[in-house]
Amino acid sequence: MGETEVQKWQTQQDGFGHLTQSNAPMPKPGKDEVLVKINAVSLNYRDTEVVMGLYNHHKTVESGRPDPIVPCSDMCGTVVAVGESSNSSSSDVTWKVGDRVLSTFNQSHLSGQIQGADMATGLGLPLDGVLQTYRVFPATGLVRAPSHLSDEEAACLPIAAVTAWMAINQFRPLGQPGGAGETVLLQGTGGVSVSGLQIAHAAGGKTIVTSSSDAKLERAKKLGADHVINYRTNPDWENAVMEMTGGRGADIILECGGAQTLRKSFDAVAFGGAIACIGYVSGKQDAPGDRTNVNLLALLRNVTLKGIINGPRDRFEEMIRFYEAHGIHPVVDKVFGFEEAVEAFEYLFQGSHFGKVVIKVGA
Ligand SMILES: NC(=O)c1ccc[n+]([C@@H]2O[C@H](COP(=O)([O-])OP(=O)(O)OC[C@H]3O[C@@H](n4cnc5c(N)ncnc54)[C@H](OP(=O)(O)O)[C@@H]3O)[C@@H](O)[C@H]2O)c1
Repeated sequence: MGETEVQKWQTQQDGFGHLTQSNAPMPKPGKDEVLVKINAVSLNYRDTEVVMGLYNHHKTVESGRPDPIVPCSDMCGTVVAVGESSNSSSSDVTWKVGDRVLSTFNQSHLSGQIQGADMATGLGLPLDGVLQTYRVFPATGLVRAPSHLSDEEAACLPIAAVTAWMAINQFRPLGQPGGAGETVLLQGTGGVSVSGLQIAHAAGGKTIVTSSSDAKLERAKKLGADHVINYRTNPDWENAVMEMTGGRGADIILECGGAQTLRKSFDAVAFGGAIACIGYVSGKQDAPGDRTNVNLLALLRNVTLKGIINGPRDRFEEMIRFYEAHGIHPVVDKVFGFEEAVEAFEYLFQGSHFGKVVIKVGA
């Protein structure tokens, strides 16, 4: 391997301009751990919030972390050293030097329902994240990278694509993903929504995409969007969804907008449909003058309102099999160099991207 030091970006959650670089000695993998050379990191909206000190809605995660932290959770890398393997059941997952791997977001969330304790294993807060050249991971905190994707593409999967996958498949049994014939509404054209568009389209669903930009909607059409709506020029987009679906509504809504969109989603969802609450609704007010209680809105159409916190490792692997079977490539909007991390964060936060923003780490 040769290198003796790790290069890392760190934040004290006090703004993009205060991101700093430092070096540290190369760590060694312990029992059931591997050392990974990080090749590419994709950014999520969460990462911009962490760096700005605004990621404060999960009470178990954000509090009391004054020391610098390495931001970001999503990476594609190569295993460069493997620690000793134990005989415990957690050592079922084995890696060898040269394997190409992806990080999982909450490292201990392996299957089923996420628990509070798993939230304490989130990469890029509260744990040190992946915007560094090397990192040690537990063997179970990684999945195999799909072979048809570049490092930059594969790095886009852990949060954005897994969250979209869960929004579409969470109520179906593991190993039986679906969506054919269902109408899926995607809000905006960020990482989660564009992943959801690709997944729903490949599954044989009908897709409706909203965006503030006609140019982005044209790109969404090229990815297979059946209908598009500009939510700036058509603020009553919920009515448009009902028209486009013959008065039926969308079966699944990827609710990324939160305060501005949730109320409208209740008017755009089909009877018995699902609103996947992905963006921030907690603590947000209903629109002024409309104090209708969310519980009442939910029962009016007998919908299930279910929050999503990413997804477990086994469903990530299920999704990768689907990506491979359908040859799906995540959409990489722009790739920044490692030295351009600040510009990358600013670019994502300002929101002109379509799909994912990536930082190339390795040579
Ligand atoms: N619960 C979870 O596990 C989970 C996982 C991932 C993300 N999230 C959350 O989901 C949200 C999206 O994340 P992301 O990573 O996809 O973000 P992102 O890549 O930064 O995309 C944000 C996009 O949201 C769209 N948008 C903004 N205001 C909107 C509105 N009023 N109506 C519709 N779309 C709007 C914009 O699309 P246009 O430019 O096309 O208008 C913008 O590009 C964030 O709140 C994030 O924190 C949650």
